[in-house]
Amino acid sequence: MSTTHLQPAHPAHSKMAEYYRIYVWEVPVRLYHGINALSMVLLCVTGYLIGAPHRIFYANEAYQLYWFGTVRFIHFLCAFIWVFNFLVRIYWGFVGNKYSNWRNYFPLTKEQRGEIREVICADVLQYCKNSRSYVGHNPLAAFTYFLTFLAFIFQAVTGFALYSSMSSSVLPSMFKFVIPLMGGEAVVRFWHHLFLWFFVVFIIVHVYLALYHDYVEGRGEISAIVSGWKFHHVDAAPDNKVKK
Ligand code: HEM
Ligand code: HEM
Repeated sequence: MSTTHLQPAHPAHSKMAEYYRIYVWEVPVRLYHGINALSMVLLCVTGYLIGAPHRIFYANEAYQLYWFGTVRFIHFLCAFIWVFNFLVRIYWGFVGNKYSNWRNYFPLTKEQRGEIREVICADVLQYCKNSRSYVGHNPLAAFTYFLTFLAFIFQAVTGFALYSSMSSSVLPSMFKFVIPLMGGEAVVRFWHHLFLWFFVVFIIVHVYLALYHDYVEGRGEISAIVSGWKFHHVDAAPDNKVKK
């Protein structure tokens, strides 16, 4: 916690409200987020092109063109970056600050499950009044990230299984067994393709919600994932979950 800022609670209000600045997202979490976002967008675009290749009419001979090879190269390069970036984030879940701790992502306690219901009632159904202000992820967002992390694992396993027929290196070879287990390459490919659409929907909803919370709460939600700092009302304790 550092400087205290004075600013209107809402642009339409003249009443001044006092806010603290709290350091929430450490460098590894911010780097993880940026690398994850960029590599996932590239994986989705290149994956889509692999699944539905476009015929490009050029005067050149086919052997003079290598655009599809480049698309596949970008897909595989991003795949490795994406997977190792995710492993670093898992490690940070054990050594990072309380906002990035792995426990936030599992609704293990009764309290966490109650908070998820509160967020659904207030933010999704717009039925109850939101009585809490979260510094880190709100519990519903954290649980959604947990489900997304499971999807990350599934996509990486099916991706490396597909890659095992094209590469003899150690990592892909470890996932060869997945092909017969899932019923053949066509089935693995089908599921790998289907999950593309899960990620596309996730990204659209996620960016919308980031903008929504940034606007409604006015606490620097989006800039925080870049700078690390978030604003918190002076009346609220600098805890992960506090009464407004
Ligand atoms: C966000 C993550 C990812 C998305 C959205 C994604 C999407 C896709 C899609 C849509 C396809 C085309 C499937 C089809 O033929 O219909 C594909 C192919 C493929 N993906 Fe991924 N993928 C992801 C991650 C990975 C990872 C981590 C690997 C691991 C190396 C990987 C390896 C492959 C391979 C080997 C192919 C087949 C390429 C070919 O036959 O030319 N993918 N991917
Ligand atoms: C495009 C692909 C993107 C993906 C796959 C993605 C994924 C994620 C994930 C997995 C987290 C949780 C981070 C963690 O706990 O370590 C997260 C958090 C966050 N992301 Fe993204 N993100 C993307 C783009 C964006 C963009 C464009 C913005 C800004 C408009 C954004 C804003 C945020 C914010 C503000 C948080 C923290 C939200 C919270 O407290 O729950 N993300 N994102």
